[in-house]
Amino acid sequence: MKILVINGPNLNMLGIREPDIYGRQTYSDLEAYIRAGAEKLGLEVEVFQSNHEGDLVDKIQWAYGRMDGIVINPAAYTHTSVAILDALKAVALPAAEVHLSDVNQREAFRHISYAGMACQVSFIGLGFEGYLRAMEYLKNVIQ
Ligand code: DQA
Repeated sequence: MKILVINGPNLNMLGIREPDIYGRQTYSDLEAYIRAGAEKLGLEVEVFQSNHEGDLVDKIQWAYGRMDGIVINPAAYTHTSVAILDALKAVALPAAEVHLSDVNQREAFRHISYAGMACQVSFIGLGFEGYLRAMEYLKNVIQ
């Protein structure tokens, strides 16, 4: 079972960006956490990060016919991108949304999630653990 994990803009700055919100662990730490979690669950995982909306759309399209599910933290594009929503709908793979922080307790503009409208489930405000929970969820749904 193959899972694509997609991370959007500024998540490569984890450890540096707003540590009071996102913590001190780095993007490399996150990637290692995802890979270890996938191994524990017996999943093959592809991990991708980009700061560019079109690259995220391309990667979602790439997953069609190659991957069994998508875990996505679109970061700021969550709240703006109809293109990412449409890409997720186009490939129609089981998808789970993740946010490190509790977006519902933050500014009002973070309360809307376009990508979330094409996801079966959202794990919000659980930090890194959200990615593990999302992979677990997809494993159960796909099996
Ligand atoms: C985020 C929340 C978004 O609102 C923000 O733009 C991010 C990260 C999160 O993981 O908590 O960049 O997706």
